[in-house]
Amino acid sequence: MDTGSEVDFLVIGAGVAGLRAAAELANHGDVLVVTKESVGESNTHYAQGGIAVAMEGEQDIALHLEDTVNAGDGIVYRPAAEVLAAEGPLRVAELIEWGARFDRADGRLLRTREGAHSLARILHANGDATGAEISRSLTAFARVHGRVRFAEWTRVTELLVTDHRVIGVELAEACPAGKDCNPWRASARAVLVASGGAGQVYSDTTNPAVATGDGIALAAQAGAELADMEFYQFHPTALSLPGAPRFLLSEALRGEGAYLRNDRGERFMERYHPLLELAPRDVVARAIAREGMDTAGGTRAVYLDMRHVRNLNLRERFPGISAFLARYGLALAYDLIPVRPAAHYLMGGIRTDLAGRTSVDGLYAAGEAACTGVHGANRLASNSLLEGLVFGARAAQAMLSDSRPLVRVDDGAEARKPLSPQEEQHIETTIAKLQDTMWAHAGLLREERTLREGFAAQAECEAEFAALSSQGKASRRLTEGQALSRVGHAILRAAVARTESRGAHFRKDYPQRDDQEFCKHSILQRDGGVVFEAW
Ligand code: SIN
Repeated sequence: MDTGSEVDFLVIGAGVAGLRAAAELANHGDVLVVTKESVGESNTHYAQGGIAVAMEGEQDIALHLEDTVNAGDGIVYRPAAEVLAAEGPLRVAELIEWGARFDRADGRLLRTREGAHSLARILHANGDATGAEISRSLTAFARVHGRVRFAEWTRVTELLVTDHRVIGVELAEACPAGKDCNPWRASARAVLVASGGAGQVYSDTTNPAVATGDGIALAAQAGAELADMEFYQFHPTALSLPGAPRFLLSEALRGEGAYLRNDRGERFMERYHPLLELAPRDVVARAIAREGMDTAGGTRAVYLDMRHVRNLNLRERFPGISAFLARYGLALAYDLIPVRPAAHYLMGGIRTDLAGRTSVDGLYAAGEAACTGVHGANRLASNSLLEGLVFGARAAQAMLSDSRPLVRVDDGAEARKPLSPQEEQHIETTIAKLQDTMWAHAGLLREERTLREGFAAQAECEAEFAALSSQGKASRRLTEGQALSRVGHAILRAAVARTESRGAHFRKDYPQRDDQEFCKHSILQRDGGVVFEAW
């Protein structure tokens, strides 16, 4: 495709943050949105439960702020949460104006409740397909705008840096294994990383295959600071059936009354938190992990139970989940649904200010790839779509106001050699080894000894990827493997350094929260060190 080698603004990623930014930028310049699959394939698209937003005025906003701060376990950066809660209603109203259709009854928006929310404030669309509706409406809005172009099935392989400023990117087609994928270059006045999370760093994840942390790895390579990488949120309830994917079973199911039961039929959350099934997500995930272990180190089943819910037509309220479960002969109204936690959302990422600026000039980040500190150690359920809208718009505004001139990049990107089918297979095996390592060594329950073992296995994977890329070879999966390995390394480093338990980061060897030392954010330094800063 003709992407042109000069654009005003380049956006990496077509989830909610990237699309919202593109909508803003397009009023002022040409925008190229690069996405490595089709536009619809993002974490945003699969978001089920909804979008948390306080549409009822000042008091409502103040409550949303407090819930966000409380869920974050002591280290939410309050100014970021204030921005999220206060600007959220405007961004959602705007989205509705642009065509997003949220569920309503008698014209009024319907709201549900999820874990750690003090009231029902979560808007949803088509029952349990909120992300898909937001993605649809933003894409439609961007597509009619003549100044937004999409480069689908295209990936950014490098950020081009001159004099500490990002001036453009190197791109390649996301070509299938074994095909030549020669790169080209594009210059841009500013580049936004909105490429989402990295759930694929773990063997068990709710995230789609595209969530490989590419943007985070690219930014780190260009010198951008990463923050809070130890905080990976594990969603408590992914489907746990042999042979089935770790399909997300939305927290909204518990918001509508689902119980959690162990294999003895006990409603065990009574022993863990006064909010029971609607406790903060990290608490519920660890409770399920504990109930799911037997004393001999084996596993026991844990279930979601909605059989008692009589006031709702569950198939109508949750059509996507019901259809998926039906493939496995299960129905919410009649069956116990086996669940276990899975990696879901990265609270950390590329450190940014409240306008999406990273520590590298010309480079911005927003959404799951970024870390403003808004989620602290544990994200409040359904705050991520709102985060994408609010901080995507803010990053775009900063890209416009910082107003850098275009610097032409030289077009001559170096040709790469394709990998053989055997080499591609080796990459798959190495990625699987990395994912198993991260799950076993840097998962829900961590300790120094196993984290250190994780480093050794991650280093072996890194060396395998490096051996192929040093021969001038390139492929999409090799790039993804390298990105996952870099993200994995960052998680391990930060998790070793935080010798306390807080939010999603639980250390068996340091089970208490240590506010004296660690009421702070972790920053990874280029020399391999980790520093803790109070924001
Ligand atoms: C869910 O529907 O449970 C996921 C929503 C979220 O991750 O906030």
